[in-house]
Amino acid sequence: MKLNQIVEKKQLNQVVYLMGIYNPAVANKAKAGQFVIFKHKESERIPLTIADCNSKMGIVYIVFQQAGVSTAILSRANVGEQLDHFAGPLGNATNFEKVKSACVVAGGVGAAIAYPIAKTLHSQNAKVDAILGFRSKNLVFFEEKFQTVADTHIVTDDGSYAQKGLVTYSLEQLLNTKQYDCVFVVGPLPMMKAVANLTKEYSVKTIASMNPIMIDGTGMCGGCRLTVDGKTKFACVDGPDFDAHKVDFDQLIARNKTYQQFERHAYDKYCNLLKK
Ligand SMILES: Cc1cc2nc3c(=O)[nH]c(=O)nc-3n(C[C@H](O)[C@H](O)[C@H](O)COP(=O)(O)OP(=O)(O)OC[C@H]3O[C@@H](n4cnc5c(N)ncnc54)[C@H](O)[C@@H]3O)c2cc1C
Ligand code: FES
Repeated sequence: MKLNQIVEKKQLNQVVYLMGIYNPAVANKAKAGQFVIFKHKESERIPLTIADCNSKMGIVYIVFQQAGVSTAILSRANVGEQLDHFAGPLGNATNFEKVKSACVVAGGVGAAIAYPIAKTLHSQNAKVDAILGFRSKNLVFFEEKFQTVADTHIVTDDGSYAQKGLVTYSLEQLLNTKQYDCVFVVGPLPMMKAVANLTKEYSVKTIASMNPIMIDGTGMCGGCRLTVDGKTKFACVDGPDFDAHKVDFDQLIARNKTYQQFERHAYDKYCNLLKK
């Protein structure tokens, strides 16, 4: 096997892919919460959370949703191809100190980011509930994996599978009956904001994995800045985990929209090129 070679590829739903990448150094060092940044062919740099590792085989697993040009290029890569500039593990590992009972809440592709958190908590004998929210049944993935490490609750927006509703619906039910040392949340910004608002009412510590736009991933460019407790932080080196009750979600939601028009234009151009 060659370094950074794709050794496994699986489509988990219509827009989400899992890939196994051969990189023993990263596979042996990575901890839950950390991420890698790499390029493939004409893509921009892509930051992705390390979803799992097989340290014996030296394989790093990433799970990504096709969102724009770079992830579309990646989704077309096949087993045997090598990724460029595969750097990691980056960011701080999730802190599980004193966590004996936790609820891990994930939305959409956030399930991939949340899985190593639930797995690590389970390996440390913590009691773990997991709430996974998807828009509909055809987008559900990782349910079986979560069931091996957590008491797993699935919700779908349209009710096409399991419980109908948003993750906050299930979380509120659990918060009314259980005590948690910590809630971990990963997903779209409005969903993390809603979870943070809910857990604040119950005074339950909540950690959000923040995924703002990143460029270098080493604290140099400032692209990933966000405001936490009134102070500027860089998600790549100060995070990606932050106290969800102190994150300025509204500011980040506005910032993340800055390049939307350019991203849409680039994606349309890419799709037109593919048609030729
Ligand atoms: C630390 C970190 C870990 C991440 N882990 C994962 C992961 O495990 N799986 C995964 O699927 N994605 C993850 N992401 C998001 C992923 O990096 C982006 O979706 C990807 O870089 C988009 O590139 P693109 O060129 O395909 O899309 P673009 O053309 O750049 O964007 C397409 C659409 O996606 C939105 N978008 C772009 N970047 C982000 C972002 N960082 N967060 C939310 N929305 C974004 C844009 O606003 C736009 O609407 C992570 C991001 C960070 C910073
Ligand atoms: S990505 Fe450049 S400072 Fe974080």
